[in-house]
Amino acid sequence: MKALICKAWGLPETLVVEDIQDPVAGPGQVVIRVHAAGVNFPDALIIQNKYQFTPKLPFVPGSECAGVVESIGEGVERVRPGDRVMALMESGAFAEKVRAAADGLIPLPEGVDFATGSAFLLTYGTAYHALTDRAALKEGETLLVLGASGGVGIAAIEVGKAVGARVIAAASSPQKRAICRDHGADEVIDYAAADLKTTLASLTGGKGVDVIFDPVGGPFTEAALRNCARRGRHLIIGFANGEIPRVPANLALLKECSLIGVFWGRYIKSEPAAWAADLRTLFAWLREGRLRPHVETRYPLERGSEALAALLGRRVSGKVVITPVP
Ligand SMILES: NC(=O)c1ccc[n+]([C@@H]2O[C@H](COP(=O)([O-])OP(=O)(O)OC[C@H]3O[C@@H](n4cnc5c(N)ncnc54)[C@H](OP(=O)(O)O)[C@@H]3O)[C@@H](O)[C@H]2O)c1
Repeated sequence: MKALICKAWGLPETLVVEDIQDPVAGPGQVVIRVHAAGVNFPDALIIQNKYQFTPKLPFVPGSECAGVVESIGEGVERVRPGDRVMALMESGAFAEKVRAAADGLIPLPEGVDFATGSAFLLTYGTAYHALTDRAALKEGETLLVLGASGGVGIAAIEVGKAVGARVIAAASSPQKRAICRDHGADEVIDYAAADLKTTLASLTGGKGVDVIFDPVGGPFTEAALRNCARRGRHLIIGFANGEIPRVPANLALLKECSLIGVFWGRYIKSEPAAWAADLRTLFAWLREGRLRPHVETRYPLERGSEALAALLGRRVSGKVVITPVP
């Protein structure tokens, strides 16, 4: 089979497409024919050895896909060859086939296409866990989403609206802000150019925002935290900006606000029953049209490195996916 392979740490252009041996399903495992694999920011960090774990070289990146079960290993009863599934894995999804644990497979809901299925679990799972569980966002509260046109950003806008919050979306270009509006944002701001203090004070009547969803980091973290309301919650999601910020602890004291960490990958392993409940709500909202995953571009496997480069180059709104089987 063909796969996108990382042979040395580096930027996306160092990835190569080559033929490698087909995976074989061991006990409790399946092999999935990958129709689409979602590209996530961590994929672009993992190939540079800048993420929380270090895979052994060479390896096939890609941690999320949707496809059809091709074969099953010993003891697998949950799924059969031919089933349409969504799957999460540590690596291997940017290939024509991938091996996955049968236990973690999620049936692809009827009517949901492969590209949408491959772009759903990580982004919407993270946004839902962060906003409803970690921050306990309530109807009527104000939510500020940084990097709002990105993968987790659009998911946070839609989950925020589904909960009944008023959503302020921050994005860097007019096109990105238009997409945020299209996905439900009540207000949009240019967080690079705007004086956040004046803008957010006027948008919240001087109160500040109740919840901040922050996948960007760098200088934007402190600027946003300074506009947190009393009893507000600032969610630390990630550092797309490349810089892990240090913030003055006195801000938390003065505002009686909380800085809250989010690690969705650990959450779904530690609390599988809670994750299963999250999925029931997310799929219901998807069916009702309250969630509308935005797949901007589909890249064939041969051009997979371009998908990762677009993400790192800040040129993507919503999601890009790689389609080994078009
Ligand atoms: N904690 C968790 O459990 C968890 C789960 C999923 C993802 N994450 C993290 O969340 C972050 C965002 O992931 P994502 O998949 O949504 O990425 P994404 O689609 O690329 O979105 C990131 C957004 O950040 C903004 N940004 C600002 N400076 C940037 C820079 N120098 N390079 C790239 N983007 C920049 C961009 O918007 P503008 O151009 O409008 O500024 C972009 O839309 C990543 O750090 C990822 O690791 C964390």
